Amino acid sequence: MIADEKKEIDNFYNNFLAVKAVQCIEENDVITLLLTKEDITNHEIPYSDLIKRLADKDKKMCDAGNTCSIIFDSASGLKKIIITGLGDAEKLTPNDLRKAAGETTRTIMKARGEKTLVFSPVAVSNNDHMYLRALLEGLILGSYEFNECKSEVANKFDGLVQVYSKDIKVNDIIAEANILCESIIWTRNLVNRPGNIVQPQNIADEALLMSEKLGLECEILGTDAMREKAMGALLAVGKGSDAEPKLITLKYQGSVNSDWIALVGKGITFDSGGISIKPEAGMGEMKDDMAGAAAVLGAIRAIAEMKLPCNVIAIAACAENMPSGTATRPGDIIKAANGKTIEVVSTDAEGRMVLADAVWYACRQGASKVIDIATLTGAVIIALGNETAAIVSNNDNLCEEIISAGKTAGENYWRLPSLPECKEAIKSDIADLLNSAGRPGGVITGGLFIGEFVDENIPWAHIDIGGTSTAQKTNGYLVKGATGIGVATLVQLVKGK
Ligand code: BES
Ligand code: MN
Ligand code: ZN
Repeated sequence: MIADEKKEIDNFYNNFLAVKAVQCIEENDVITLLLTKEDITNHEIPYSDLIKRLADKDKKMCDAGNTCSIIFDSASGLKKIIITGLGDAEKLTPNDLRKAAGETTRTIMKARGEKTLVFSPVAVSNNDHMYLRALLEGLILGSYEFNECKSEVANKFDGLVQVYSKDIKVNDIIAEANILCESIIWTRNLVNRPGNIVQPQNIADEALLMSEKLGLECEILGTDAMREKAMGALLAVGKGSDAEPKLITLKYQGSVNSDWIALVGKGITFDSGGISIKPEAGMGEMKDDMAGAAAVLGAIRAIAEMKLPCNVIAIAACAENMPSGTATRPGDIIKAANGKTIEVVSTDAEGRMVLADAVWYACRQGASKVIDIATLTGAVIIALGNETAAIVSNNDNLCEEIISAGKTAGENYWRLPSLPECKEAIKSDIADLLNSAGRPGGVITGGLFIGEFVDENIPWAHIDIGGTSTAQKTNGYLVKGATGIGVATLVQLVKGK
């Protein structure tokens, strides 16, 4: 029985939990309860008498942030019960539940049950399913581990985890949550892989494989094709590396007469800074400089697998930024595909260069909206910290849409002002544009630079994930390393509800 059930989840990309709804409580050896304070008097929860007695003894049992485990001898044998407190029901947001579920899932794995049941009244008694989605996402994402590079994985958890629900209709919600989380994990894996394992060609290989599996249109441009299109900015970034740059385009058509939205990602597989080389400390972290590209590919993967009725173009602008005898020098002037010339102040401001040609290309593909996402600046960490991504945009509605999709998805965004005056800073005396205007307003000037390559009148938004692409520590549903930020928001955005 268990073997059969597990077979279903073996199709999944990686070792993580796939959840489904069940109605039987008895068969499980671990019961996990995520309870608000109000749930203590709910007679529908398993072992409600026991829970009530425990709560009478420990008044803080259901406070937010509390977790306890109990071993209990039941009529059907030994059981472990894990209780996670959610605090007051009225204060609990879906994202609070997502975080609590992320913490709980690691306790579930440690309990090593063969069959674990997760029961949370808020998640199954709520009609809009936001709480259920959050519970599932927290459980799956919090269990993630990047273990591809370990020769042996210690104590791998291979139990079955299921969510209790009386209502069988929730299976659709669960299927969607599984797809979304699988795509986020696909993105996290790609971002976590180091620069010697992920080069532009490897991202292209992944994209091609995905396009074959999901029936997407796929185009991969190398150096020659980019030269034909005069993509001087993208080429200038890649030319210091032995690895050939790649411009990857995937198209998903899920609707006959809808407009196309383009999602464009920065895909620097390693950012040494180039000739403007970065200091040694922390340089290794720049293996995550392709998190934007990984996010747009992860998003289109989920969108296609969910068969959403929309039309999406994902473009990944991939290159490796290295110093060498063939590298671009500070002071060089290069010409981008739209004809604008760029004075390279710093070869470390390379993300905006690859994106310049990529957003231009998105417009040529007939996009009616363009969103680019990039680990563009360190300045965004100074401005907004590590919890919030920045938006720079020419369109109020598009910003609202991203921020609101992010709220649903559990990702935070904040729009920065981009006054026309800010554009003065990126004007060059001897070319059209400077690729860096130094430290003041670095997030804004970086974003505005990219905007110079988007066709006028096309709604465009730039998302800077320089502070949010990687988590410094495991917390809630984020696990130390790549976060997969952007995937959930972009999927939610095109879904629109
Ligand atoms: N990939 C970096 C941005 C970055 C740095 C993100 C550290 C997260 C942590 C980007 O290519 C870069 O080097 N940006 C420069 C821009 C500057 C030269 C205008 C930066 O932020 O210092
Ligand atoms: Mn850089
Ligand atoms: Zn970079």
